[in-house]
Amino acid sequence: MKKILVIHGPNLQLLGTREPAVYGRVTLKQINAGLQKIARKQKVGLTIVQSNIEGKIVDAIGKAGSRFSGILINPAAYTHTSVAIRDALAACGVPAVEVHLSNIHCREEFRQKSLISPVVQGTIMGFGVSSYYLGLEALLDLL
Ligand code: DQA
Repeated sequence: MKKILVIHGPNLQLLGTREPAVYGRVTLKQINAGLQKIARKQKVGLTIVQSNIEGKIVDAIGKAGSRFSGILINPAAYTHTSVAIRDALAACGVPAVEVHLSNIHCREEFRQKSLISPVVQGTIMGFGVSSYYLGLEALLDLL
């Protein structure tokens, strides 16, 4: 069975109550349940992690190459700052898809640049929770 690593970056544990006008009212638990439903249908395994700590995300990506067929990642605020996560994704040897709930290009200027996009297979953003579901489907199609 193929296995996919799902990574949620900083502050995404707050989804549901965090800036609902931007991110909606769906909780991370509900997003994860939706991802698991797709995974069951497609007969793939999911390992889901959320971390607020850049180094933990780098470690998880660093180990992923030998354990997973692909990575679905919402790097959250690290999208705009983390050379370390970008380098880890570039080195991991498996395809990754970047997702965002919001359309970062419609937001503050500092959010409009992703350091991650150049090293992933593709990016899906702006569709709320559907960005995650579309991202997982796209990753599975790719594999
Ligand atoms: C986000 C967008 C980022 O700019 C922000 O820091 C997040 C969430 C999104 O899913 O829209 O935490 O990645």
